Amino acid sequence: MALERLDKILASQNIGSRKDVGYMIRKGRVTVNGVVVVKSEQKADVECDAIAVDGREIASSRMIYLMMNKPQGVLSASRDSRAKTVVDLVPQEWQRRGLFPAGRLDKDTVGLLILTNDGEYAHKMLSPKKKVEKIYEAVLDNPIDSEDILAFSVGVKMKDFDALPAKLSVMPHELADENTLPLERQVRVIIHEGKYHQVKRMFMARGKTVQALRRVQIGSLKLDPNLAPGEVRQMGEKEILAVFT
Ligand code: URA
Repeated sequence: MALERLDKILASQNIGSRKDVGYMIRKGRVTVNGVVVVKSEQKADVECDAIAVDGREIASSRMIYLMMNKPQGVLSASRDSRAKTVVDLVPQEWQRRGLFPAGRLDKDTVGLLILTNDGEYAHKMLSPKKKVEKIYEAVLDNPIDSEDILAFSVGVKMKDFDALPAKLSVMPHELADENTLPLERQVRVIIHEGKYHQVKRMFMARGKTVQALRRVQIGSLKLDPNLAPGEVRQMGEKEILAVFT
């Protein structure tokens, strides 16, 4: 908690001089969590409270957590001069909040992506020490066999690093597309780290190519089935914590 006087917060966000913002506050133009505040000396927490002037939330450091169903063809980055990024897909009112993707998905990977401005949260989620599960569904060029499952379970060895033990299985029947693909080419992988191209490289080390990849779960947070590709919504308190349970 970092409580500060409201006039100090607003002045430090360049809303106006201390005198100007004091005037705005007295005129009832400022709200904290939706409630009008008329005293400059009232304290607020810039990290937790929604502070707005004339109904527009200030570009504060208030933490924000968004769930996106990342579509194909979009970069997991904040900004890129040439390519469309996941932050470009976020509604305007959230774009000025210092958002970044907590963990990257490749341009052609789809599914669950969290965007936040909470660096500590992202760091915790990505640290292999925290053992946060990331669950992927993949379509491969060739079926898996019991040796692949075993190799994943002890940690696939690659040229530059050995992956931590991971869980590989054939996709459960209810999720698999039985009509178009052999079941053994539709798999589910659970990993606890997130190195560059990790899942693709683990399969590559087993002589298989990933043809499609979707992240469906982080910790116990599942991708909301109601989110269409490219859609994004704010996460609830329980969902924010679900990543670590
Ligand atoms: N592993 C990959 O290879 N790609 C991703 O996008 C995520 C995990």
